Parts: sequence; C-alpha cells; structure tokens
Amino acid sequence: MEDPWQKAYDFAVEVARIAGEEVRKAGESEIKVQTKSSAVDLVTKTDERVEKIIIGSLKKEFGEGTHCFIGEESVANGQACILTDKPTWIIDPVDGTTNFVHGFPFVAVSIAFAVNKQLEFGVVYSCLEDKMYKARKGKGAFCNDEKIQVSDVQGELAQIRKSIIISEHGTDRRKEVVSKIFSSMQKILCIPVHGLRGSGTAATNMCLVATGAVEAFFEIGIHCWDIAAGAVIVTEAGGVLMDVNGGPFDLMSRRMLCANEKIIADRIIKEIEIFDVTRDDVQ
Ligand code: IPD
Repeated sequence: MEDPWQKAYDFAVEVARIAGEEVRKAGESEIKVQTKSSAVDLVTKTDERVEKIIIGSLKKEFGEGTHCFIGEESVANGQACILTDKPTWIIDPVDGTTNFVHGFPFVAVSIAFAVNKQLEFGVVYSCLEDKMYKARKGKGAFCNDEKIQVSDVQGELAQIRKSIIISEHGTDRRKEVVSKIFSSMQKILCIPVHGLRGSGTAATNMCLVATGAVEAFFEIGIHCWDIAAGAVIVTEAGGVLMDVNGGPFDLMSRRMLCANEKIIADRIIKEIEIFDVTRDDVQ
C-alpha cells in the first residue's frame, strides 16, 4: 500500500533545509536577543521569522484547514499547545537558540508530524554541521541518507560504565531545580560513566543517541517541539524512548529519556531526581 504521508515527509526535508539555510545566514549578521519565560530563555527575530517560513510553506502545500500546527514561537505568542487526532506539525525553527546567539556551533531545525496523536516522521536539520537527520515510522533513520543505528554498548549492566550520557540544564534557574539537575548528573557521573556531554540542542542530542555517538540523553523541562522529531529518529535507529521514571513516553509531559537500550535507560533512571514541570498541554 502506498504511504499516505510520504509526500509530507519529503516536503518536510525540503522545508527543513530551506529553514536551516535561513538560520545559517542569519547567524552571520547581528543577532537581536529577547527573553521569554526567564532571563535565560532566549528568542531572536530569526526564531520567529523562520517559524513563519516553515508554517507558511506547509500551509501552502497542505492547506490550512486540514493540518494543525504547534510551533515554539506561535505557542510563546499565545497559541494553544494541544495535540488532537488531526494531522499536526510540531516545529522548532531554531533548537539551540542560546547556541545560535553565542555562535556555539550546534543549532537545529526540528520538524515532526503526528496523526491520531502518533508521531509519523521526524526531521532534524543540524544546519551548521549540514547534517540532515530524518526518520519515517517503520522505515529506519538516516543522516544525510546514510542509515544510522544506536550504539552497541549493551547487553550487561556493567556496560553503563562504558557509556557517554547527555543531559542539559534547561532554562529554569530556581536553586532547588538546579540542585536536582546537578545532583542527578553527579550521581550518573559517579556510577561511573565515561563522560557527560550536552550539545545545547535537545533535537541534536537525540540524534547523537541515534547515531551511537552517545548512549543516552534525558532532560526534564524540554518542550514537545524540542523532542518530537528526535523521538522518531531515535526510535527508528533502534533506541528506546521513555519517561524519566521509566513509564511510557508522553510527548506533552516535558520529560524524556532516550537510550540505546533498556538496561542502560533503567540504570540511569535510578539516579534521576525528578522535579515538577507544567505540561505543555496545560492551558
Ligand atoms: C532548548 C534546547 C536545549 C534544552 C532546552 C530547550 P530552544 O530549546 O533544546 O538543549 O536544554 O530545554 O528549551 O529554546 O533552543 O528551542
């Protein structure tokens, strides 16, 4: 049977490339920075302009009435963040805005597509590295058209000691939250693991798990647009995706752990100190 969403998938790759070129060019000129939820939650005119380019192209191609859109900047400007059964695009025009502002070389465009609340495909364009990651449900994951697979550090609990784990600090700077984030990292580092890393973009972090460069990534406080595309990519690359308490992954929960395999995920979960965050779909 013909894949009903193949055309949308191919189009998403094209749009992500165009958007990434815009981001790359914008990074070469002066960047004006504003803040959103906190003094460290940054946004630029590029985030807003690129989101408009992406959503504008998708609406033109697929029609406004039938498809829905959840975009980071549209939500910041008051649009609802509710996932329905309708075909829905979930977009982060600039994942890694802080990196973008500082010229730290990891910035990604993230575009995902869900139908009946199930993610169908994801595209992450790491535009400064020119790496196009993509995955269609049931059809594998790719980076620049080469098939990718999670790391083979697996099989025994002891293998956690040969792993690299990614986590991020997010944008909540309340002391009790930062303490829990660092306490989790300290405990994981002391398992011990080979190292801790973080690229500054959740979408890219998930792709790093998908390529096998690292074994796991977790974060509390991310949003659905940061992780929706990466969720398909990491799963299609053979990885596992779950909540930070080991329960099922919930796109709107703002909590996510992905890993090359369950034994490593379960070991990390033992060390994560969970803190409360408001779900994306709470109005
Ligand atoms: C951020 C990045 C970062 C993560 C933050 C996100 P943004 O996304 O993904 O890695 O730690 O939680 O908000 O704001 O640059 O799109």
